[in-house]
Amino acid sequence: MTGTGNERARKTAEGLAYSSGFGNEHSSEAVTGALPVGRNSPQRAPLGLYAEQLSGSAFTEPRAHNRRTWLYRVRPSAAHPAFTRVDNGALRGAPFTETEPDPNRLRWNPLPVPEAPTDFLAGLWTLGGNGDATQRTGMAIHLYHANTSMDRRVFSDADGELLIVPEHGGLLIRTELGLLRAEPGHVALIPRGVRFRVELLDATARGYVCENYGQPFQLPDLGPIGANGLANARDFLAPTAAYEDEEGSYEVVNKFCGNLWKATYDHSPLDVVAWHGNHVPYVYDLRRFNVIGSISYDHPDPSIFTVLTSPSDTPGLAGVDFVVFAPRWLVGEDTFRPPYFHRNVMSEYMGLVEGAYDAKAEGFVPGGGSLHNMMSAHGPDRETFDRASAAELKPQKIDDGLAFMFETRWPVTLTGQAAGADHLQSGYDGVWQGLERHFRP
Ligand SMILES: [Fe+2]
Repeated sequence: MTGTGNERARKTAEGLAYSSGFGNEHSSEAVTGALPVGRNSPQRAPLGLYAEQLSGSAFTEPRAHNRRTWLYRVRPSAAHPAFTRVDNGALRGAPFTETEPDPNRLRWNPLPVPEAPTDFLAGLWTLGGNGDATQRTGMAIHLYHANTSMDRRVFSDADGELLIVPEHGGLLIRTELGLLRAEPGHVALIPRGVRFRVELLDATARGYVCENYGQPFQLPDLGPIGANGLANARDFLAPTAAYEDEEGSYEVVNKFCGNLWKATYDHSPLDVVAWHGNHVPYVYDLRRFNVIGSISYDHPDPSIFTVLTSPSDTPGLAGVDFVVFAPRWLVGEDTFRPPYFHRNVMSEYMGLVEGAYDAKAEGFVPGGGSLHNMMSAHGPDRETFDRASAAELKPQKIDDGLAFMFETRWPVTLTGQAAGADHLQSGYDGVWQGLERHFRP
């Protein structure tokens, strides 16, 4: 996209209105009177619109888990020609069978910059994942690198919802339900099946995507924390209705059971004039996260930093958790304050949005990532261990970094491109070499 295009997108992004709250019923109309009153499917929908339900859960799931949105649109989604297979590019889907699961600790530098014009969809590059998209279990880890906006084409993912974590460059995400602005430090959550198009607010954009095949992300229960804290529901922002009434060729790409399919429409499918429901996209500013930690001793388990969780059938066992390491105070007495040495049945992929992470002094850079698979041993590097073991324990503000984790119940199997990538670091094990023996019986 040209600089002028970025400017235009940024101007649009600056004036957006949102509707606040997570998991609740939202409603919005871009034209007064477009939303029917008192019923979902009147004999004739207002303003000559078509009524259409988008179901994100089975009709009969319990009310607390039931998700659907009613859309009032210029044309029904059903008005389209056949989809045909197109090349998947660097996008892969579950099950992941290209490599053998690897117990090694792995770390990558950021994705290389693409030279050819590459939009958000073309720039998706799959690192790995688990589960099976056809069974609606598991997750995938993608990275993206884009240097142009999606032009007259939209994407939707039938396989799962997409949690987009920008690391560099802002995004204007035009969804069926309206527009979201997602800058580095924000996350955007696009529900399963919702169509969207990404425009760039800057010359290039880079970041991470968690594709969640399982139950939709929800806010974690708070238990003894009480009624408030961690990510507060009111800080999640849903879009307000905005529609395109455009004729002409429009490419619609659908990810279905791991593969990309394309149909060419004769109009923009982002033509929803009004809607109401709870199957909606969100944007959330991670700096709003209410960080809770110890005010006596010990570092709590990092689950205390959970922003969103995709539960499984086993209570407390997430298909995937999204966890953020946000600016916070450390005040623990007689405590090793950075994250402790650790082996975990859950598998952990970490990324860095900005700054540095308090358990890794070097080598873990914004846009890069690390994978500590099931039961692999990890923790602070030597420099961090030595420093934290000797530090004077006065109150300390950690305010120079924003790291996050996708933590999943199943091991992550790499794609061939991730296992063989030039930007896969060699010698990551060296981080834990030289940890001296201090035992004095
Ligand atoms: Fe860990």
